[in-house]
Amino acid sequence: MKELRIRNIAGEAAVGEEIEVKGWVRTRRATKHVSFVEVNDGSRLSSLQVVLDENTEIRNADGSDDADSLLQTGASVRARGVLQESPGGKQAIELLARSIRVVGPAPADSYPLQKKRHSFEFLRDIAHLRPRTNTFGAVTRLRNAISSEIHTFFQQRDFCWIHTPIITGIDAEGAGNLFRVTTLDPENPPRSEDGAVDYGEDFFERPAYLAVTGQLNVEAFACSIERAYTFGPTFRAENSNTTRHLAEFWMVEPEVAFCDLECNADLAEEFLKQVIGRVLDSRVEDMEFFDLRIQKGLIETLREVVEKPFERITYGRAIELLQSAGRSFEYTPEFGSDLQSEHERYLTEEAIGRPVVVTDYPKEIKAFYMKQNDDGRTVRAMDVLVPGLGEVIGGSEREDDLERLERRMRELGMDVESYRWYLDLRRFGSVPHSGFGLGLERFIMYASGMQNIRDVIAFPRTPGNVKF
Ligand code: 4AD
Ligand code: MG
Repeated sequence: MKELRIRNIAGEAAVGEEIEVKGWVRTRRATKHVSFVEVNDGSRLSSLQVVLDENTEIRNADGSDDADSLLQTGASVRARGVLQESPGGKQAIELLARSIRVVGPAPADSYPLQKKRHSFEFLRDIAHLRPRTNTFGAVTRLRNAISSEIHTFFQQRDFCWIHTPIITGIDAEGAGNLFRVTTLDPENPPRSEDGAVDYGEDFFERPAYLAVTGQLNVEAFACSIERAYTFGPTFRAENSNTTRHLAEFWMVEPEVAFCDLECNADLAEEFLKQVIGRVLDSRVEDMEFFDLRIQKGLIETLREVVEKPFERITYGRAIELLQSAGRSFEYTPEFGSDLQSEHERYLTEEAIGRPVVVTDYPKEIKAFYMKQNDDGRTVRAMDVLVPGLGEVIGGSEREDDLERLERRMRELGMDVESYRWYLDLRRFGSVPHSGFGLGLERFIMYASGMQNIRDVIAFPRTPGNVKF
């Protein structure tokens, strides 16, 4: 007898064939002579309807016969029977069960996922059970598909996946939002004569942190194998409780040698389009679910994103567009200040109506490593902004001139000595190179229409929340 996952039934078994499926009961509905059990195994959105009639043998795993009452929402089951066409019409096939076994019951008075709509807030408190719901099952499969397509995109283009370290000794973005890594006793740390904590006594004999980015490390590989990317978790102790920020999020960061800002923007655009296009084709049922239940018109919007070229404007032009918008913003747009979420939304949703690559930001609001323009005030930065969300990608051409980079670092008061290795990449065989970082969760929000970043990662970490 074939043991099948539900998503494979249609392709691998025919009506009249006997099969076994395993999964969790979503609902059970009884009429006088038969009952209908919806079994879901997470392999696809749809459940399989399992029909029990008077001939179906219902058993517990231990063989005892109180199984009938235990066969309820949430229970795990194994069902064997014959596939038949479903007269109901809602689904093409169903399983007429010869036997069904309750593997593990789920008491109705305590199982939290009863048959009704639960709010996303409620589900966040039971993050360990929410993958059993339609929405989180779909998010889980989409996240997996996107991650896989990300690798495919870069592997097809001859990039090497570099596993950059998670523990680091420097603040690679210079934004100061680092989580410290230490084995010192917080109650009683060793102190030097001036009273400061003596990190010389710590595990790494100097301060250490969780990485906010893998970029600086991956630059070393771009400057030796030309095309490299890192893809993994990154950490930011930003105390921003928004729907777009996590303290732990995944980022993919490609880095390419002999590549300037235009080449970088081309890569980013091609990348977003290919990944979106491929998940639209491969995850049809889940995408239709998001379109129906989460964001109306999602599929059509994404199709357009794949087909139309992104707009490209400079930061200076963006400010002009905002200033001539004929409306008031909470933060007045002026050259030199960072684009706020309201500005990004105006640009993408109203002024332009599709994704926009904004380049050449003022150096003061961007990281130290970005290549300086000859105007002395802007850098070769690029952010990719999308409607409904804002920034999904941040990147730049990197400063490849040793003197200029060192000067900028000193201007910013950085400890140049601890970046010596990074400067070596400019000292020996320096090359124009560029890269960007895509926030995986932001991208999943965009592709699914989900509105809160906490709902597109398995176990979100945000200020005050490290449960699970
Ligand atoms: O713009 P960011 O800070 O750029 C970097 O980290 C560069 N080192 C990337 C590079 O050039 N290699 O972050 C990149 C992206 C953002 O555009 C955003 O999508 C996401 O990472 N991101 C976050 N996502 C969730 N929660 C946060 N706290 C995030 N901070 C950034
Ligand atoms: Mg950014």
